[in-house]
Amino acid sequence: MLVVLAVFIVGLAVWHIYQVGKLSRQIDETRRLADESDRQRNQVQEELFRRLYEQRELDRQKLQFQAQLSEYEKYAALAQLALGAAHEINNPLLGILSHLELELRTTEDPADRSEIEQCIAGAKRISSTLRGLVNYARPSPPVLSRISLARLVADTVAFLENQPMLRGKILQIDVPSDLSLIRVDANQLSQVLMNLLLNAAEATPENGRIVVSAYKLAYVESLEVRVSDTGCGMPPEVLAHVFEPFYTTKRGRGTGLGLSISYAYIRSHGGDMRVDSVVDRGTTVTFTLPLRADEQTDEEKEKSLIVG
Ligand SMILES: Nc1ncnc2c1ncn2[C@@H]1O[C@H](COP(=O)(O)OP(=O)(O)OP(=O)(O)O)[C@@H](O)[C@H]1O
Ligand SMILES: [Mg+2]
Repeated sequence: MLVVLAVFIVGLAVWHIYQVGKLSRQIDETRRLADESDRQRNQVQEELFRRLYEQRELDRQKLQFQAQLSEYEKYAALAQLALGAAHEINNPLLGILSHLELELRTTEDPADRSEIEQCIAGAKRISSTLRGLVNYARPSPPVLSRISLARLVADTVAFLENQPMLRGKILQIDVPSDLSLIRVDANQLSQVLMNLLLNAAEATPENGRIVVSAYKLAYVESLEVRVSDTGCGMPPEVLAHVFEPFYTTKRGRGTGLGLSISYAYIRSHGGDMRVDSVVDRGTTVTFTLPLRADEQTDEEKEKSLIVG
């Protein structure tokens, strides 16, 4: 009887031990499952945050694009307005100019002559501003020809050299004459140089230095041209806007189109332009021009495709 009882107690104990073991295995499994679901929850949370962040980033970009678009639309509307206004103003202006020139021819009195000359200068300035507006609003497609940069710089400088604003300032030209020829619209490139030189001259005090330099870039088939001055320079808040059309700090004297037109011309030649400036130290405008001397023109490419 005792033996039966002992066997029963041992059996009960073994059964209990087995149950406890099973329970603890179940607890471990439940813990593992809980850890796993914690991990999954964290993962889902992370994914959610990532998506939220991406969404916010997309929203931000969308807003930025919308702002840019409305800015472009504003410029496009302004450009149309400018074209219309330029046309309306230019015709009577040409009439006024020719009348003033006739008047000048028949006037002897020096005081009267000086007054008429001032009027002519003013009218010519309005006319050149209008030309700038029209150029900006409807830039003519570049007329490309192969030219020497050294020659173009020399011609442009010769044209400006006697301008009063360059008097008393040192103008240095470092453009090697053996640079490869470039395929550009000579007129547009000359306008770019002129705009940059005039800006430099206006910013530079007497005895200041203006340098035009150019060289071939080492690893890229491009020329780099620099116009630097030791003038007043620009603070960052001005620098940030210089390529915007109509942005000027020269109230009443500037149209604010010089740099924006120059930038547009250089971009249309496949180049780029940047401005570095330090207040009271000076400014350097750098632009690149791809060397296309060995390349076929689009027209030539098309022809060879058709023939081939
Ligand atoms: N070399 C420079 N040194 C200092 N400031 C400059 C220089 N070049 C440009 N700027 C600044 O950039 C502004 C924009 O130049 P931009 O040539 O486009 O117009 P502008 O010279 O004011 O007028 P415009 O050229 O139409 O007569 C200038 O008003 C001036 O504040
Ligand atoms: Mg200018």
